Amino acid sequence: MRVEIRGLTKTFGHVRAVDDLSFTVEPGQVTGFLGPNGAGKTTTLRMALGLVAPDRGTTTFNGTPYAGLPDPMRRVGAVLETAFHPARSGRNHLRVYCRAAGLPVSRADEVLDQVGLGPAGRRRAGGYSMGMRQRLGLATALLGDPAVLVLDEPANGLDPEGIQWLRGFLRHLAHEQGRTVLVSSHLLAEVDQTADRVVIVAAGSLVREGSLEHLRSGADAEGGGTVLVRSPQSVRLAELLGGDGVAVEAAGADTLIVSGLTTAELGRLAFAEGVELHELRARTSGLEEVYFRLTAGQEQFAAAGPDEAAPSPSREVAS
Ligand SMILES: Nc1ncnc2c1ncn2[C@@H]1O[C@H](COP(=O)(O)OP(=O)(O)OP(=O)(O)O)[C@@H](O)[C@H]1O
Ligand SMILES: [Mg+2]
Repeated sequence: MRVEIRGLTKTFGHVRAVDDLSFTVEPGQVTGFLGPNGAGKTTTLRMALGLVAPDRGTTTFNGTPYAGLPDPMRRVGAVLETAFHPARSGRNHLRVYCRAAGLPVSRADEVLDQVGLGPAGRRRAGGYSMGMRQRLGLATALLGDPAVLVLDEPANGLDPEGIQWLRGFLRHLAHEQGRTVLVSSHLLAEVDQTADRVVIVAAGSLVREGSLEHLRSGADAEGGGTVLVRSPQSVRLAELLGGDGVAVEAAGADTLIVSGLTTAELGRLAFAEGVELHELRARTSGLEEVYFRLTAGQEQFAAAGPDEAAPSPSREVAS
């Protein structure tokens, strides 16, 4: 199922949260929806799912708006905020959803297993850790076996093992099962190893869209990225490195942050000059540099007018 977002626009009071945003999400791929805090990701996803009315613009799922989908839980699964009754077990929460959506209650145990919550499913959801809540949210989205999954910051609160599990899981849902997976994050690193394509927004507008592969090769061609190098001869090394297009910054007694050289180039130079290295690694990728540059200084909450001056009658339920 293809998701098409066309010209979505939403203003809250004086804040243009989403500004004429258009992009397409294809099946069989994981699409990362990236942008800094306040960029308008959650607002976009809520509009796409009919939870917030846009000022302008449309979202369609194979040509049909969410509200017009027959049996929407079987088409589109979403995790926007994880709300559940704290006294209810995760399993019970899921069974309530099954009944409401006319699904067999046996789906509850199936999705609990799928998200690795199995035995914990019988515990009170109010006692769940952040990561367990995220998994319960994901399980809820999967109940209807939907063709489209829309997940808002699903990696929040997951431990490194959980993040790795989520990566594999999302890729499996898209690549093996052919689903359309749209996943938002404010951290590039989170979607870097998961997404096939990224849609980058800042201050409500699209700033870049494309395959991660393409973005990465473009970024590397620009020679972006920084390298961290540690050496007991860091002063000498810094002298050697100075040159056209290379910037060297001291970061502690024996550590340098170098931009304009790859780890290979730097290692070769140090070897040739007999400089002893204790550490040499890429600190940020070219892709990260591009992401920073595209979204730098775009936090809306920094730019927005004062709240007191603009009591917004249009304020909807805070997320
Ligand atoms: N219900 C609302 N009422 C007023 N302003 C809102 C509301 N929802 C969002 N906003 C504003 O719209 C802008 C975009 O917010 P949104 O939550 O969509 O960003 P986000 O990209 O999801 O950020 P984050 O990474 O922090 O989750 C922000 O300036 C926010 O303050
Ligand atoms: Mg958000």
